Amino acid sequence: MYKHLQERYAPRPPVNIATLAKMKSEGEKITAITAYDASFATLVDDAGVDVVLVGDSLGMVIQGHDTTVPVTLNDIIYHCRAVARGLYRPFLMADMPFMTYASKEQALDNAVRLMQDGGAKMVKLEGGAGQVEIVEFLARHDIAVCAHLGLKPQSVHKVGGFRVQGREEAAAEQMMRDAKALQGAGADIVLLECIPAKLGAEITLALEVPVIGIGAGVQTDGQILVLYDILDVTAGRKPKFSKNFMAGNAGPLEAVKAYAQAVKSGTYPGPEHCF
Ligand code: KIV
Repeated sequence: MYKHLQERYAPRPPVNIATLAKMKSEGEKITAITAYDASFATLVDDAGVDVVLVGDSLGMVIQGHDTTVPVTLNDIIYHCRAVARGLYRPFLMADMPFMTYASKEQALDNAVRLMQDGGAKMVKLEGGAGQVEIVEFLARHDIAVCAHLGLKPQSVHKVGGFRVQGREEAAAEQMMRDAKALQGAGADIVLLECIPAKLGAEITLALEVPVIGIGAGVQTDGQILVLYDILDVTAGRKPKFSKNFMAGNAGPLEAVKAYAQAVKSGTYPGPEHCF
């Protein structure tokens, strides 16, 4: 059956940008997770997750690199296509990899490829004040954009490691200004990674668009985690903010359901996951 016919009978219609805005206004937490293939896409859909990200974290958890820097646009498109085939309800977001949005024209060409070839409904880019013009250009061309602030893994070599961001007052104030400027430029979602919980709460309160956090405290409008961290298959040291949801659950589906329920009820993240 064609997807649009299925949609007419679905008890829960597919999530779109308006659904997410409504969730923010009604105080319902948004659950988001990464996925990289069709099988896990179907599983996280069955678990009731609202947003799925084909993240450039695939460079680390799938390809085995130390950073996300080597990931290419074609890598994301390949995985996004597979994920899109497995998804029905969640809103599908795809990462724009390192150096695929260095100019607004390049960003537009590559965002169009992620949507037309990959099946993404929204693109995510890492950016601050320097990316306002690019976000504005994409928004002007009716492309849904998520702006990623805080720890920006594509900048790891410039910053000198994966560190908590926004601890100092000046940096926190700059992040608040950036978040407002990106919203003003047309960003539909702001994602905050690895920042103090207090700053996560303040930015969430200050913005009208939904704010999704990863290591940004419990008061953001939603949470996102890397699927393989939840399932405890990521090798090596785990980030402080992540949680192994396989513990006490029978399998991956139950683990992702437990994650989604914990986010919806506000029991994840706990104080031990926050900065
Ligand atoms: O690439 C990714 O998976 C991400 C999340 C960690 C937010 O950007």
